[in-house]
Amino acid sequence: MKTVYFFQSQFSYDLKSAKQYWFPYTAGTLWVYANQNLSDWQLGGIQYKRDNIQDYIDSIEKIDLACFCTYVWNKEYNIEMSQAIKKKFPKCHISFGGPQVTEQYLEFSDSICLGEGEVSLVELMTDINMDRSTKTIYQNSRMPTLDNLPSPYTQGVFDSMVQAEPGTKWAAVFETNRGCPYSCTFCEWGGLTASKIFQFDMKRIQAELEWFRDNPVAVIFLADANFGIFKDRDLQIAKQMNATLQGSALEYVSMNYAKNSNQRVFEIAKILGTVSKGITISVQSMNPDTLKVIKRQNMKVNNFADMMKLAEEYNTYTYTELILGLPLETKETWKQGLTNLMELGQHNKIFIQKGLLLPNTDWAKVQQEQYNIETVSIYDFIPGVEQYENDKEHAEFVVSTNTMSRQDMHESFMYGWMCEQMHYNGYSQIIAKWLKTKHNVNYKSFYDCMFEMIVNAPDIKHEYNRISSAYLELQQTGKVSVDGILTNTLEIVSRKVFYQMYDSCINFAIQVGKQFASIPQEVIELQRRFLKNTQYTTPYTVNLDVNFETQECIDTSYNVIDIQEYHTSFTTGTEVTRGGMKRNYFIYENINT
Ligand SMILES: C[S@@+](CC[C@H](N)C(=O)[O-])C[C@H]1O[C@@H](n2cnc3c(N)ncnc32)[C@H](O)[C@@H]1O
Ligand code: SF4
Repeated sequence: MKTVYFFQSQFSYDLKSAKQYWFPYTAGTLWVYANQNLSDWQLGGIQYKRDNIQDYIDSIEKIDLACFCTYVWNKEYNIEMSQAIKKKFPKCHISFGGPQVTEQYLEFSDSICLGEGEVSLVELMTDINMDRSTKTIYQNSRMPTLDNLPSPYTQGVFDSMVQAEPGTKWAAVFETNRGCPYSCTFCEWGGLTASKIFQFDMKRIQAELEWFRDNPVAVIFLADANFGIFKDRDLQIAKQMNATLQGSALEYVSMNYAKNSNQRVFEIAKILGTVSKGITISVQSMNPDTLKVIKRQNMKVNNFADMMKLAEEYNTYTYTELILGLPLETKETWKQGLTNLMELGQHNKIFIQKGLLLPNTDWAKVQQEQYNIETVSIYDFIPGVEQYENDKEHAEFVVSTNTMSRQDMHESFMYGWMCEQMHYNGYSQIIAKWLKTKHNVNYKSFYDCMFEMIVNAPDIKHEYNRISSAYLELQQTGKVSVDGILTNTLEIVSRKVFYQMYDSCINFAIQVGKQFASIPQEVIELQRRFLKNTQYTTPYTVNLDVNFETQECIDTSYNVIDIQEYHTSFTTGTEVTRGGMKRNYFIYENINT
């Protein structure tokens, strides 16, 4: 009997003050598939934390094959672990697989598995078992059906982990299908699976949901690239999730909604109820030239506006993801894009992702040279990680392109930061909307003006300078040593600071607004009550001369009725939540009619 170990190490995450780990789903899936097809192998173990390497090696008595499931967050650890294994067990076959792996990994291993891993692993294990010479690269076409792939959850692979870790909350990867029909150049997923989507059997899906219900699963990450792409099936899955997981430990469900989304995704969010984190309506860039070269057949801009209307109708929280540093983006297209999102009705939230050049993408393989993309290695970059201890993991962070110098990138980052803090977190949103409706001041003019003034804004300028120097340091060194900021908190660390200077933020927004028109007291009152603040009581009524919803200059009464908690899943019990700010809720009433 030969012995295989899997390595899929991860950091622990901080989830509502409890420690959280991901089930090593990839390793578990590989093992159950191999175990189903081969009878002469036993599982030594699945290593899934950042254990002390020597301690872990000391616990191994026999190992014939070590499989390393490798991605951007564990490659350095895996390399170190593999070298230590080889030293103690020179005959052990070392194999690397996962989205991060390229032929360069042969330097550290006996073989690599490229693409979908299950069939390649069985081939490798058979070669080892039969004492055949092994290949250096295993690569097979994707499995034509997923019907024969057992679930590691229901097969009990993770049961001992749950038992060994009482009090830990678990995050589970949940696959209902595999594959993505798109091939966005920045994304490893599309590059690896581009084309047909294969579906898992509904019986397996239901059985996994029941397993999640019966175990301390606090987070489900739906790993489909485009959930909602299958009309009846995905609605049915959402219904089953809702029905099965009632009363379980589940706190939230995270998912990638279908790229060309429509009404269906709102239906799904509605069915999921409070565990839904909101709907992602991702654009990555609003620049048509960029969208073309990143091969992203984007939703039409008009469609985006329709989606925002649907969001209002369904009273659903939406957020939009963008990546800074994509090809052909300039600082002007970036600023225009951010404010266009507001013009199209996105006032809830944006996520600006740090552009990371991932090795198996066309962005890295083809476009880096084409667009003269310069990167630096950044450390401590994984969001939500509880603690780093001088960790060596790093990723390649885009700092300039042939259309964006380092200086432009810095300016674009700071502009995005300002929009997030002031508009999306709410301190200037009402004033900006009022100026837009009443005086036709577009969002770009308003926020360009704010950007000029922010460097001298009382109180806020200090936070501006803190973030600005942290970003510059990151660009130059790949690390941040500015007081209180980590690379992985750079985008969110100001939220709390802004809330602590609530009055300064609103006064600053008024000052910016006054550059365009005098701001009536009622608008200021409504602005002050937009965010939850115990200084101000609800319910409260303000009469304005505009209606933001219809964008008409008609007298409207705004009844500020209650706290609308936008981020149930992320609430930390204060006004500042991990997902964003808590806002009050307005009921509009047209008082002219
Ligand atoms: C894995 S993608 C899936 C999203 C979904 N399929 C879509 O296209 O909207 C999730 C998010 O990760 C971010 N992302 C993907 N690749 C990235 C990269 N190389 N650098 C930075 N962010 C990236 C993008 O913002 C994307 O919206
Ligand atoms: S970004 Fe989304 S749509 Fe594009 S390739 Fe990746 S998973 Fe597919």
